Amino acid sequence: MYVAGVIKQTGHIKIKSQGWVKTQKSIDKLVSTGVLEVEIDPDKTIQNGQQQQQQQPPPPIDESIPETVFNPWHKSASIESELTQATKLYDEAKTLQQKAFVDLQSGGPINISAFKETAHGLIDSVFRNQDALACIARIREKDTYLLEHSINVSILISIFAKHMGIERPIIEQMATGALLHDIGKVHIPDSILQKPSQLTKDEFEVMKSHAKYSFDIVLQAQLGKIATEIAGYHHERLDGSGYPYGYKTDELSQYVKMAAIVDVYDALTAERIYKVGMTPVKAFKILKEGTPHHYDTELLNIFINAIGVYPVGTLVKLTSQRVGIVCASNPEAPLKPTVKVFYHAKHMHYVEVKDVDLSNKRVDDSLEAAIKPEEFSLDLLKFFRHSMLP
Ligand SMILES: [Fe+2]
Repeated sequence: MYVAGVIKQTGHIKIKSQGWVKTQKSIDKLVSTGVLEVEIDPDKTIQNGQQQQQQQPPPPIDESIPETVFNPWHKSASIESELTQATKLYDEAKTLQQKAFVDLQSGGPINISAFKETAHGLIDSVFRNQDALACIARIREKDTYLLEHSINVSILISIFAKHMGIERPIIEQMATGALLHDIGKVHIPDSILQKPSQLTKDEFEVMKSHAKYSFDIVLQAQLGKIATEIAGYHHERLDGSGYPYGYKTDELSQYVKMAAIVDVYDALTAERIYKVGMTPVKAFKILKEGTPHHYDTELLNIFINAIGVYPVGTLVKLTSQRVGIVCASNPEAPLKPTVKVFYHAKHMHYVEVKDVDLSNKRVDDSLEAAIKPEEFSLDLLKFFRHSMLP
């Protein structure tokens, strides 16, 4: 039969909604992806193995619909080729952030179309191969947190949204909102913003107001409801304990709940001049402790699945004591990614750079732990620039 469209389905998986379905196996596949009801076009349905409309050649049949099932792990570019482009995009995004801060400080408007364009570029890269930007977002400079954090949140929320099958125009609003979610910090004094020690109660009150400023800036920029809410509500918590408005779960959209998770994850894993970044595993643990009162449990699970327990860009030690950076995720076996090894933990010296695919049966090695670069005085940024960029 010829399926003219999917009428009812569960979940977020996107399916090409037109095509011939000729076998029970194909029907089963559709059902397993959540399709509940389809519309049949009787004119195009094939009778007795013959296509009724002879003038048109029969299409490649049977699996045509299930084959086009949306696969969030699909990569249309290799990490090597994508890294060059992703690095350029990331640097451009940083320049844009810097410029926006200067523009606002001098009382001028921000360049809205440039932010939209940047979000576009980041999402395109995420859809080609999310590993490239994910890797760059993990390996960061210590002194540019304010600039890099918003870009990283934008990248991570795009990866997150892609995995949920959220439509592209919505992802664009989410990514743009994420790029500007902390822009209100432009109105917070540097003495508070850059303070390495804990803020006093009064200082924290001032700090909290950045979300209100962000809300106003994004609202004025007319970037849409989703972007505005992400800017204003990313510090709200499901039980109403967040700030600045104290909204509860029913008052917060799914997009805001996603932003809250990503924002905290990136803050926890960030390297700062005065603090060592947490490993992703530790950050996930802390986020889990915050469910369900602060963060949405189901969304957190999807996020962890989307970026992986050992996200690309994470420094890991293998049981062979070799140390390397996770350079490709493995959705079928999340604990067996590909690792670019370059150091030996026991012998404490660099080794020949090599890609080790832990899912390869001939590779007699496995993940031991995520480690911090400080443990071996490794300069990841330097390694990344010299060994990972083509
Ligand atoms: Fe914030």
